[in-house]
Amino acid sequence: MSEPWDCVIVGAGAAGLFCAGIAGQLGLRVLVIDHAPKVAEKIRISGGGRCNFTNRDAAPANYLGENPHFCRSALARYTPADFIDLLKRYAIPFHEKHKGQLFCDRSAEDVIEMLLAECEAGRVTRWQPCKVLDVRATPTGFEIDTDRGTQSAARVVVATGGLSIPKIGATDFGFRLAKQFGHRVIEPRPALVPLTFDAPTWAAFAPLSGIALEVHIETGSGKKPMRFLEDLLFTHRGLSGPAVLQISSFWQPGQPLRIDLAPGRDVGALLREAKGKSKRQLGNEVAALLPQRLADAWLARADVDASTPMPQTRDKELAALGAALSRWELTPDGSEGWRKAEVTAGGVDTRELNQQSMESKRQPGLHFIGEVVDVTGWLGGYNFQWAWASAAACARAM
Ligand code: FDA
Repeated sequence: MSEPWDCVIVGAGAAGLFCAGIAGQLGLRVLVIDHAPKVAEKIRISGGGRCNFTNRDAAPANYLGENPHFCRSALARYTPADFIDLLKRYAIPFHEKHKGQLFCDRSAEDVIEMLLAECEAGRVTRWQPCKVLDVRATPTGFEIDTDRGTQSAARVVVATGGLSIPKIGATDFGFRLAKQFGHRVIEPRPALVPLTFDAPTWAAFAPLSGIALEVHIETGSGKKPMRFLEDLLFTHRGLSGPAVLQISSFWQPGQPLRIDLAPGRDVGALLREAKGKSKRQLGNEVAALLPQRLADAWLARADVDASTPMPQTRDKELAALGAALSRWELTPDGSEGWRKAEVTAGGVDTRELNQQSMESKRQPGLHFIGEVVDVTGWLGGYNFQWAWASAAACARAM
């Protein structure tokens, strides 16, 4: 067996590489192992290839998990401004797109190259592709069986991410290892994912595929339903776009979604107003407020004759049309699943981790960082910020 490592990190994704670079630069002897042939593939495909690497406004309120305060400490100690400073040191150009979301100007490769350079500066060793076969606790740390032989290390960091996009290397390794060491794993479920509807429900809407518009979307009941103002996209199988990806993390099977297709506008009142001035057909007036195909579908659904001249419409009918548009209620039958989910909600229960160091409270020397942990960010750069922050907390505590 070779000389023991201070730390073996399993997973060369966002969290694993970032943790390795910091730990290496702090003087630790670090080995990173990943079974995938290509490094950091999820960063490469993120943000449409431009990597939405953080959100300027990231705060604990943008994360969900069974133990919502857990992420506070790490997020406060490694902030979006810290990651922005790092990018600036590497002269990586970036821009803000929408609601604090920061993207690379050129390509996600810039972020990957930067993480690899940070690893190089920390003399990190990376084995890839390399399989981890078993991890055992020993009196001095761990033994890690790999297909390049058995390694020993004082610490093991699990950075194997979640279950989404299995074709680029996602596995349940982290969850299995957590359970092996007695950890509770909160049932992983696809999040930031398009939602689907049963075929008969969706038949009337499938022809709207491709239409995008800004909506208010809401789910949940009680005093605090979850609500987002974002773009909605109609697809052949259901709904997608930022509005639906955001709400999907909060949606519970069986619950309805409530969608306002004309947020901030009282369509009923606008149509009644138009009635006083316009001789056009109702269909034309509705199409002035909504995308044409959606307007047509809506009128057909409401069983209203689109060719009715405005002066002949009934106020009650116009009010009902407006109300139906502002409170469209429908219940998804599921989601597009791991194939399309951007992240995994659930994961290693944070009540059994130290929030300063991400270290297991059950097995000293074992750490969990990034998406494998039950901390899930909203859409918009929050998940990478968690990867950076949890990795930094772990690396600095080792
Ligand atoms: P990550 O998935 O990055 O890395 C895990 C690594 O572990 C992988 O390299 C994998 O091969 C390796 N691994 C898994 N099992 C293993 C095993 N058994 N042995 C060895 N290695 C193993 N977030 C965001 O903030 N902004 C964005 O723009 C996007 N965009 C985006 C687009 C798409 C299509 C997806 C799927 C996801 C996003 N995300 C995102 C989410 C973001 O990519 C994700 O939250 C982070 O990559 C999580 O970082 P981790 O390091 O935890 O896992």
